[in-house]
Amino acid sequence: MQSELLQHLKTFSFPLNVYAYVLAMEPEGLRYLHYGWFEDQSESIAVAQERSTRELLAWLPAPPARLLEVGAGIGTTLALLRVRGYDARGITPDQSQIDFMRIRHGSDFAVSQVRFEEVDTPPGTLDCILFQESSQYIALDQLFSRAAILLRPGGRVILCDEVLPGEPESGEYLHSVTRLKAAAAQLGFSLVEERDLSSKAAPTTDFLLAATARYREDLRRLFDISDEQIDALDESNRQYRRKYASGKYGYVALCFDAAA
Ligand SMILES: C[S@@+](CC[C@H](N)C(=O)[O-])C[C@H]1O[C@@H](n2cnc3c(N)ncnc32)[C@H](O)[C@@H]1O
Repeated sequence: MQSELLQHLKTFSFPLNVYAYVLAMEPEGLRYLHYGWFEDQSESIAVAQERSTRELLAWLPAPPARLLEVGAGIGTTLALLRVRGYDARGITPDQSQIDFMRIRHGSDFAVSQVRFEEVDTPPGTLDCILFQESSQYIALDQLFSRAAILLRPGGRVILCDEVLPGEPESGEYLHSVTRLKAAAAQLGFSLVEERDLSSKAAPTTDFLLAATARYREDLRRLFDISDEQIDALDESNRQYRRKYASGKYGYVALCFDAAA
């Protein structure tokens, strides 16, 4: 791996640094920080991640349109959107991701360090807001109320994320999909597309478990991550795997249009 890339991954917070490193060690290199959508277990994480982005972007309005990518991660999707002719801007609260994106995509890359809750885009100007695995970090009362302010009438929200398929439970921080849809409906959004991708996303936990086993020594040596931290991360991924298998966790892609 390039030493400059490695130096930057070291600045990512735990466990994003672990995920970014193991993905960077794949033959295709580091392209995204999201789960894959696996058609079968034998395909690579890179193919499965690429499918997620490709299928999600199929719901975008045609270019040129004004887009906001919330949680731009390492910038691969944002760069692609700009190449496709969109007037696209990305945000993330994480300065280490901003630094990484500016090195990879140029110092004038259209990304800002700000949380969605505080973004200063002029009201009523966006055609679409994209949340690819970032909606889980934003409180439900902020998610659609902020989107309703920023979008033009008839504008679109596209999101994919891990969710609770049922009602919320104490101790679980993921959004309940029922509540997500209710919050959107309350603000006048109509659900225009919905996909349950739980069985396609779940094999990502197997990839992550295999990858930490494979790179444990690197993670200790290069990132100063302790065995205890890796064990805790593995246990969390095993729990996720069990929760996906039992239907307690799910993964959905949703597309909503604001009232015209
Ligand atoms: C799992 S990563 C996904 C990154 C990228 N969308 C991808 O698919 O590769 C989650 C992203 O959401 C961002 N994020 C977390 N909280 C946020 C907030 N309040 N507002 C905007 N972005 C946020 C993180 O910094 C990160 O970029």
